[in-house]
Amino acid sequence: MSIADIRRQYARARLDEAHVSPNPVAEFDRWFNQAQEAKVLEPNAMALATATRDGTPSVRLVLLKGYDERGFVFFTDYRSRKGAELEGNPRAALAFYWGELERQVRITGTVERTSAQESEAYFRTRPLGSRLGAWVSHQSRVIPSRAQLESGLREVKKRFPTDDVPLPPHWGGYRLRPEEVEFWQGREDRLHDRIRYVRDGERWRVERLSP
Ligand SMILES: Cc1cc2nc3c(=O)[nH]c(=O)nc-3n(C[C@H](O)[C@H](O)[C@H](O)COP(=O)(O)O)c2cc1C
Repeated sequence: MSIADIRRQYARARLDEAHVSPNPVAEFDRWFNQAQEAKVLEPNAMALATATRDGTPSVRLVLLKGYDERGFVFFTDYRSRKGAELEGNPRAALAFYWGELERQVRITGTVERTSAQESEAYFRTRPLGSRLGAWVSHQSRVIPSRAQLESGLREVKKRFPTDDVPLPPHWGGYRLRPEEVEFWQGREDRLHDRIRYVRDGERWRVERLSP
């Protein structure tokens, strides 16, 4: 089959401005629960787009670790490429794709670091291996070999021989405060439903976009 012939007809559901929540976080919560019920593989995987101050973009997947009225939280190495880009330019965007539900969600906003207490609380829930790994890896750096990581891990295990591995100072969360949230539901004949929320002071404006 040629790549040009790969396509789906979307017909599972519809999205109607008369029936969405006035609040995009409540709407996201409904969709996220449905993605879990549909057994989407890693429903919390999301593309995170960042850009340098001069506008060069980059994108990668990260895992959503929490969301509420304040925003959408993920964790990373603050010294990574994404970290450096976010420190220089805090504007970022997220995209989820839940193919089983023929759905996409896009979120745009501004990030800030989570508090050290919040990063610490999450770090403590991570498996031991992940906590040690956070001390070994300087994320996004060029390294000479895999062997360097493995010797780094041996060193870190000596430094932290018990389960008590502290939060590294270079590691923690970002919270993206949404300014725009768009819900996309695939429909017949590429006439998809797109409902966008735009922050308008204390409220949200809800509008429909052409597919
Ligand atoms: C499904 C999936 C989930 C990921 N989750 C995270 C994450 O939560 N945090 C993270 O730092 N990297 C995560 N990664 C790795 C990133 O995609 C990326 O390789 C890494 O963060 C370095 O990106 P950067 O060099 O642009 O900073 C994940 C990768 C995949 C495929």
